[in-house]
Amino acid sequence: MTKDNGEFLKAYLQDRRKIVEDALQRYLPPANNSPQEIYQAVHYSVFAGGKRIRPILCLAAVEAVGGDLAPAMPIACALELIHTYSLIHDDLPAMDNDDFRRGKPTNHKVFGEGIAILAGDALLTEAFVLLSHTEKVRMPVEKRVAVIREIAQAAGIAGMVGGQALDVLSAKSSSSVEILSEIHRRKTGALIMASVKTGAIISNAREEKIKALAEYGMNVGMAFQIADDILNVEGDRNLLGKETGSDAALGKITYPFLMGMDYAKDKLHKHIEAAIESLSIFDERVLPLRLIAHYVMERKT
Ligand code: IPE
Ligand code: IPE
Ligand code: MG
Ligand code: MG
Repeated sequence: MTKDNGEFLKAYLQDRRKIVEDALQRYLPPANNSPQEIYQAVHYSVFAGGKRIRPILCLAAVEAVGGDLAPAMPIACALELIHTYSLIHDDLPAMDNDDFRRGKPTNHKVFGEGIAILAGDALLTEAFVLLSHTEKVRMPVEKRVAVIREIAQAAGIAGMVGGQALDVLSAKSSSSVEILSEIHRRKTGALIMASVKTGAIISNAREEKIKALAEYGMNVGMAFQIADDILNVEGDRNLLGKETGSDAALGKITYPFLMGMDYAKDKLHKHIEAAIESLSIFDERVLPLRLIAHYVMERKT
């Protein structure tokens, strides 16, 4: 990435993060509702920080096809709520048993396991309350249903939940590059793909462009998880805001573990190349998506 592009992207991500944070504040029920424990647990994890990459990708996809950002905001936020739910549950003792997330103690460490499970359930469910809200999401009913289906499929058993199940089971079963790629496609690729795809769908993009963005999203999503696994080995705990070394300790199947670090980095590179290649049919408004793909490969946080 050139210096100019790097500076542009930094400002772009900062600006978009702020827009997303403000919208999340507007859409989430207040933290002092009753019972306070559950509302506070939800607010705690949603506003603990986080890169907001899924909502930002959704908005960047809208921009790439010349759409309007306003109707995309509730969709972008719903994606972040679902993602945050997945992190709370992923960190539970029964899953990855992590104590540190987004630079803070994990949800269950602060609120206890019962409330943490419910905070995850609440976030998943509230995402669909938001998506089905006719005043907050103004779009024709067929589009709304298409968006809801896309996101539900990505989050559900064919997508993230299935991927998490394979991830949990993988530590105990025989592994291969094929299984690993299936885990990444489902646990991380699916929701990131849905982020860009829904941005394109609500912006009335042509079928060819929706397909190209889906390709981009899946490749960026798979790359994102490989980068996460590399950072678990070589990253800085304080920059990441979560523990490193935990994949090896838990016997997780990752590319660095299965195939070595050089292979993992090469695979990451290939996914990013493929992602950028699928942007070739777009005009200059695709620049943020192109730069985000580079960022996913180079990120340290
Ligand atoms: C972490 O996601 C979990 C993965 C899918 C690798 P992020 O790296 O997007 O986490 P936050 O939202 O920035 O905390
Ligand atoms: C998280 O995967 C994926 C989801 C939550 C769907 P990981 O378990 O590898 O991510 P981190 O390292 O805890 O963020
Ligand atoms: Mg996990
Ligand atoms: Mg984890």
